[in-house]
Amino acid sequence: MTWLESRPPERIAGDGVVLQRAHADHIDGLVEAVQESLPELQRWMPWAIDDYGPAEAREWQQGCDDQWPAGGGFAYVILEDDRIVGTVGLINRLEPGWLEIGYWVRTPSTGKRLARRATAALIEATRTHLPEVEGVAIHHAVGNDASRSVPIGLDFVYVGESEPTPDRPFQQVTEAVWRLPLL
Ligand SMILES: CC(C)(COP(=O)(O)OP(=O)(O)OC[C@H]1O[C@@H](n2cnc3c(N)ncnc32)[C@H](O)[C@@H]1OP(=O)(O)O)[C@@H](O)C(=O)NCCC(=O)NCCS
Repeated sequence: MTWLESRPPERIAGDGVVLQRAHADHIDGLVEAVQESLPELQRWMPWAIDDYGPAEAREWQQGCDDQWPAGGGFAYVILEDDRIVGTVGLINRLEPGWLEIGYWVRTPSTGKRLARRATAALIEATRTHLPEVEGVAIHHAVGNDASRSVPIGLDFVYVGESEPTPDRPFQQVTEAVWRLPLL
């Protein structure tokens, strides 16, 4: 992870959204948002188990806290009017120079381009604060049409499909890969 030495801001203001570094204070709001979104999340996110609760949210937040100083990833809650409506983050698991972006949005809040607006704000912050980043990528399950609209709407370039491989143990299905060069 040594290629990435810069760190992004803990708070990023976007178009009608604020991204705030995931913090222990967000646990209750996260659990509520996940529980409300389980049917949709479970179609695509293996971590969205039936009885997702505070222990799972705490474990996720603790992992994010550990990764931030190490440059392993930067996770944010998405806030709309101070309410948690999802998460978005940069993940350092591609080749040096490239970061992957992941996101999910609370089901009753979908359809308002929150994912697109949150991702756009994160990309802008990446351009400004992480000068060693050459570009960002979005990987989504083939068939996840709602997710696909995010890279399309932000002018990512379609790279192709990628099959699960041993160097991506977290990937379980065939993914569509999109990239946006920043330099
Ligand atoms: C994918 C997800 C983040 C989209 O969030 P969102 O804030 O509603 O996204 P946006 O409003 O920016 O875009 C939604 C787009 O998908 C389209 N869409 C929504 N549901 C759709 C569906 N079932 N099939 C096709 N398109 C769909 C909308 O029409 C919209 O398209 P447009 O921007 O061209 O008008 C959200 O649905 C979600 O969290 N899903 C579950 C978790 C997930 O899939 N995360 C991504 C993993 S890669």
